[in-house]
Amino acid sequence: MHNSERNYSLDKEKIKFLLLEGIHPRARQVIEAAGYTSIVEQTGALTPEALHEALKGVHFVGIRSRTQLDAAAINAADRLTAVGCFCIGTNQVDLQNAQHAGIPVFNAPFANTRSVAELSIAEIIMLMRGIPEKNAAAHRGGWLKSATGSTEIRGKTLGIVGYGHIGSQLGIIAESMGMRVLFQDVESKLPLGNAEARDSLEALLAESDVVSLHVPDAPDTRNLMSASAIAAMRAGSYLINASRGTVVDIDALRDALASGRLAGAAIDVFPREPKSNAGRFESPLIGLDNVILTPHIGGSTLEAQENIAVEVASKLVRYSDNGTTASAVNFPQVSLPDHGDTRRIMHIHRNEPGVLQSINKVFFDKALNIAAQYLQTDGDVGYVVMDVESDHVSDLMGDLAKIPATIRTRILH
Ligand code: NAI
Repeated sequence: MHNSERNYSLDKEKIKFLLLEGIHPRARQVIEAAGYTSIVEQTGALTPEALHEALKGVHFVGIRSRTQLDAAAINAADRLTAVGCFCIGTNQVDLQNAQHAGIPVFNAPFANTRSVAELSIAEIIMLMRGIPEKNAAAHRGGWLKSATGSTEIRGKTLGIVGYGHIGSQLGIIAESMGMRVLFQDVESKLPLGNAEARDSLEALLAESDVVSLHVPDAPDTRNLMSASAIAAMRAGSYLINASRGTVVDIDALRDALASGRLAGAAIDVFPREPKSNAGRFESPLIGLDNVILTPHIGGSTLEAQENIAVEVASKLVRYSDNGTTASAVNFPQVSLPDHGDTRRIMHIHRNEPGVLQSINKVFFDKALNIAAQYLQTDGDVGYVVMDVESDHVSDLMGDLAKIPATIRTRILH
């Protein structure tokens, strides 16, 4: 390798990872196993000033939900190449600013799918046996020994609203326990096992002994379980919500539970949730013995934490090693094969007409052959990856950087 070309392609030991907020140790293992040795870890989130300082010279940063990567932090990060959110949400990152700076942001949206599905199964059993009331009574010295209203889940009908990652996983487990599974989704979905689709929410509600919600927060899911939808549920049925707090009209649910029209509910997510464990939880559902209330822990398991660590660390390593951006939340998505003996050149640019032409002209002028070329754009940013069969690429990198729309360039040897 020519010394001058080292400016463009860093040796792995010089690539710096910063992992904040006590990320699960599996992340470090994945990064080390890929040959990266410069990994700094901190247990807590940093103040803005400390964060700006800590980000200097760092190529990859891993955060959880408490680190605010706002525009100022992104500007302070002089070498930042990609961000890993070791969690589900990415609200803590200024995604547009990161995009404009040519920095892809990764997360692990589905690492806790199984955890939510398992909790929902447990809640179906608990609700159908009337455990919340019996448990609450026992804590007060009561003794509700009775089979009245208690049923097995076998043979009962589960209605799943939102048949995505969690909904479909729940359907499979429920079916293996003998439940009949119905689902309703706005998209056409392949039914797994013996699950049956229903083409309207009303049709699903009318047939379900228990309804479990697994839709995203979106304008059309807000208040999806409105007073009239709750009224359309079967008398004596149960509602489970471990999706988003905006999906259910909580006051209408309270009325339906208090009147006995619904037999019970399990609610994990709320329109207003405390910001931390020090905050006070308030809800109209407090005090109803037939309701299981949990503090948004549907996906909170050790396994999910570990899955998140492996998934996000792998995405950072893959981007560093071969430029793949698949599943980045703010960036053109390119899934790339290994580049073998060729040099891989990455060009991130503002999405303007003529950039690809300018890039190709640079190659043409140098009489260099492009073995493979990948292009993807997303909003304001374009991402071109080229594999080149030549060792003499340092001038080329300089010329690519001079194209006016360029945000950044990178080369892998
Ligand atoms: P997903 O994106 O895989 O599936 C969502 C499904 O809902 C999709 O199939 C979509 O087509 C469907 N959908 C969208 N709008 C709909 C509508 N109006 N009616 C019917 N179906 C509709 O999402 P995933 O991973 O299954 O997550 C589902 C929900 O669970 C999300 O709200 C997510 O935020 C939440 N969640 C909650 C956790 C917790 O700790 N309680 C943990 C993980 C996820």
